Amino acid sequence: MKTLKIGVCGVGNVGGAVLENLANSPDIVEENGGVRIEIIQVGARKGKSVVPYDLDVVTDLMEVARNPKIDVLVELIGGCDLAKDLIEEAIKNGKHIVTANKALIATHGDELFELAKENKVQIGFEASVAGGTPVIKALREGLVANKVNWFAGILNGTTNFILSKMSENQSSFKDALKEAQDLGLAEADPTMDIDGTDAAQKASILSALAFNTLYDFNSVSYEGIENVSPEDIVYAEQLEYSVKHIAYGSIVDGEVNVSAFPTFVPKGQLLSQVGQQMNALEIFCEEIGSTVYYGPGAGPKPTASAVIADLVDLSNGGWPVSDKKRNKNNFAKEDNQNFGRYFNLNVINQAGAIAKLSSVFADSQISIEALIQKETKTNNKENIYVPVVIISGPLTEIEAIQLKNNLELMEETSDSVKQFRIYNAI
Ligand SMILES: NC(=O)c1ccc[n+]([C@@H]2O[C@H](COP(=O)([O-])OP(=O)(O)OC[C@H]3O[C@@H](n4cnc5c(N)ncnc54)[C@H](OP(=O)(O)O)[C@@H]3O)[C@@H](O)[C@H]2O)c1
Repeated sequence: MKTLKIGVCGVGNVGGAVLENLANSPDIVEENGGVRIEIIQVGARKGKSVVPYDLDVVTDLMEVARNPKIDVLVELIGGCDLAKDLIEEAIKNGKHIVTANKALIATHGDELFELAKENKVQIGFEASVAGGTPVIKALREGLVANKVNWFAGILNGTTNFILSKMSENQSSFKDALKEAQDLGLAEADPTMDIDGTDAAQKASILSALAFNTLYDFNSVSYEGIENVSPEDIVYAEQLEYSVKHIAYGSIVDGEVNVSAFPTFVPKGQLLSQVGQQMNALEIFCEEIGSTVYYGPGAGPKPTASAVIADLVDLSNGGWPVSDKKRNKNNFAKEDNQNFGRYFNLNVINQAGAIAKLSSVFADSQISIEALIQKETKTNNKENIYVPVVIISGPLTEIEAIQLKNNLELMEETSDSVKQFRIYNAI
């Protein structure tokens, strides 16, 4: 049987699960994958105390990158500082890399893949998007005979759990976040999940694979879920939508748009049914139409499962490597994807106010598809603001922001106007 000799750097949630899996059930990988994975060395800055197995542990992680007995360095420390230095050093020492580090791939992917190519080694990063659900493998291998037109996905389990709880139990955002933290589904500092950064990093990785763009996280437009209120979720239900955080990438006439926004998804769409902490990705190809991938998107065991799958792939020669140069200029200059929109605003309870509101839409040649105005339950109806929700026809991000600004400038509206996208699979 083949043997693959690895060094593992980082023994946190994921690193610990990789060691546990390989130490406790090596026979599953040997039987299914036809390879014996041998852990030659572990890099853990706290030393042997965090590694409950009889393994060679070093506290200087660079030792692992330079160890001549190792074929593959598994990087599971995260971040873009030491992780980058470590990977570069290991590549220069002729080692393949397996990593779960989406921040690093989304920010420095191009230089790392170039360095790997120069040194004739490969980088596995299945664990960086959708954890245990093999979406990178689908794009790199399964769909290799196709041209991808668009993808849409729920790529962050924490935000999906929060939105699901807000919908099922009418929880507030704060309570749903606390529940996620209590269940270990959200980090103590969940900023990168909540503000959309995590999903945007993953979307930029998918974009590089789907559309041959650079690994350029800065070209993704994104927004988090912090402005989604229980009231928005109630309106969504009333209008037959689920509120989801959707990463979306498309190529039209050679121009690529990649984004990640809270989005109203019609109840009939598959993505609207993806609840709790689960991830899902729909990939639409010109030749075969839609394929959909659903499963656990994070957590130690699913992520370790993806890391080990990459190791088995490496033992079989790795992945197809394209000679095609990455396209530096195919990102659209501005986000020109068209989406219907949900607007939520407060309008004064006066004759003619709704007519004036409608005229703002008409002046911009934007259709109103639905309008909900709540009845006022008070006797003194003068100068009372009532909530109004409008579903508009399709408009780009810039048009939506312009319309939102125009609505906020109206004398008849109070506070800020909220707007979210409405998803429609093409
Ligand atoms: N957790 C998930 O569900 C998940 C899912 C998908 C991808 N990922 C990715 O997997 C990677 C690891 O995540 P994790 O959840 O396992 O993180 P974690 O629990 O925080 O573990 C990180 C490990 O790296 C070590 N480390 C961090 N900085 C270091 C440094 N400068 N020098 C030496 N050691 C250092 C930590 O050591 P100490 O213990 O000494 O601090 C710890 O052992 C990240 O790139 C993450 O984005 C995680």
